Amino acid sequence: MKTLLFLAALLLGLPLQAAQLVLDLGNGSRTWQTRELLQLPQARTITVPDDVSYKRDMQYRAVPLAVLLAGIKDSDHLQAVALDGFAAELPAAPLMNTQGAKAWLAIEDPAQPWPPLASGKPSAGPFYLVWTHPEIGHISPEQWPFQVASIKRLAAVAERFPALLPDPALAANDPINQGFALFQKNCLACHRLNGAGDAQFGPDLNIPYSPTEYFGAEFLTRYIRDPQSLRQWPQAKMPGFSTAVLPDAELQMLVDYLRHMAGRKTNP
Ligand code: HEC
Repeated sequence: MKTLLFLAALLLGLPLQAAQLVLDLGNGSRTWQTRELLQLPQARTITVPDDVSYKRDMQYRAVPLAVLLAGIKDSDHLQAVALDGFAAELPAAPLMNTQGAKAWLAIEDPAQPWPPLASGKPSAGPFYLVWTHPEIGHISPEQWPFQVASIKRLAAVAERFPALLPDPALAANDPINQGFALFQKNCLACHRLNGAGDAQFGPDLNIPYSPTEYFGAEFLTRYIRDPQSLRQWPQAKMPGFSTAVLPDAELQMLVDYLRHMAGRKTNP
């Protein structure tokens, strides 16, 4: 029966999104088809209250991400790349949680497509990393990559991109190093710095100029909180970071890191 429907759909020329997810965990890559994922015994219907991308309660068919990450250790580092080049850097530990803040791979069933993210836009599918109880793990909105195409195991950000590193003489718990961690968690998915990073989305935040050089301090923090409060245009893509996501003290450390890096420019 399914085959017949499939053939009928083909003949009628209906769009059949035959999506696949590439997982490259360091021992060869594996490609998962939508159907295989939906058929995993661990697949569940989950409810995500106040979903980050849809900004309302959503229901998904999903598998716990840890199920797909066999062999990954808490100390590993993963990167989820989206169809549009958004590259979320994800320390593995939170993704492996089985309680508290728990990561799920939501799978869009072509037979029950998800709504568009905005009118005229595609949905968050074919794959979307969502969380249940994100507040327990202080999970940021950038840790909810949508339209995911691949998940890879990579060396940690600092190893791959030494040009992002603050002065190595600073103590590990120096606020500037904390700012660097916050930068990786919240900004690196969209912005490069010193040409370093995999993002394709927003401008480099140090080359040729750091925003700390051309924004008055107060305007920079205002911009990060709510970009549209400073400049407006319909296609603007930078999300605002509320105090719930980035408390004032953290925002300050993040800006301190950017200012520190203005003194450590390297040419890409
Ligand atoms: C989802 C992608 C995304 C994330 C995450 C993001 N940005 Fe942006 N950012 C952009 C884009 C795209 C622009 C260009 C303007 C636009 O389209 O909104 C931008 C512009 C900026 C600008 C203005 C640069 C200029 O000269 O106009 C600054 C400053 C900035 N981002 C800082 C940050 C910081 C700091 C973070 C992390 C807290 C961050 N961004 C997170 C996408 C992002």
